[in-house]
Amino acid sequence: MKIIFATQNAGKAKEVKAIFADSSIEIISLYDLGNNIDIEEHGTTFRENAFIKARTVYDIYKVPVVADDSGLEISQLDGRPGVYSARYAGENCTYEDNNLRVIDELKEFPEPHRAKFISYAVYYDGKNEREAVGELHGYIIKEQRGTNGFGYDPIFIPDGYEKTISELDFDFKNTISHRARSFTVLKEKLIVLD
Ligand code: IMP
Repeated sequence: MKIIFATQNAGKAKEVKAIFADSSIEIISLYDLGNNIDIEEHGTTFRENAFIKARTVYDIYKVPVVADDSGLEISQLDGRPGVYSARYAGENCTYEDNNLRVIDELKEFPEPHRAKFISYAVYYDGKNEREAVGELHGYIIKEQRGTNGFGYDPIFIPDGYEKTISELDFDFKNTISHRARSFTVLKEKLIVLD
């Protein structure tokens, strides 16, 4: 079965393709299709936004779609950036801008800065819906370290480790991450549809 992954994020696409590599499901991202559609994420939850992405892309291609909405929730910031993770420092901001804003906002709080990544992964084929959620718990540090990954990876240390996700290697991130967890469960739910 071929499934479109409703993302233009090359980092996410690489992770999810690797998760499905051992299955009969082939993942094709919007990035691969050269489609740079701007999907307005007007939902207030990760789940809502994930289904908005999946349904929007299904309506264009009429083939099965998976999507994820994900982000970082920081306890001392009352769960921010949350669903606003992608554009926390403003429209057209870079990952680094977001990281620097988070570091700046946390200056007034004592360490540790507890945080978690969440990935809400969904499937939609015009008829069936499936969903799964994954979390990765850890804490935020006050400088950016490492070059792997994307987004908030350089400032996030998972519980039980001493390195940021950007200092850990790709294959390893893809065994412990929120997205690895959500899509591994979603994959099992899709294999029965295949
Ligand atoms: P989305 O594409 O709307 O799901 O936006 C997710 C945003 O959350 C990304 O742009 C990143 O800023 C952040 N994010 C989600 N997953 C990760 C991850 O695995 N590592 C680092 N940042 C992430």
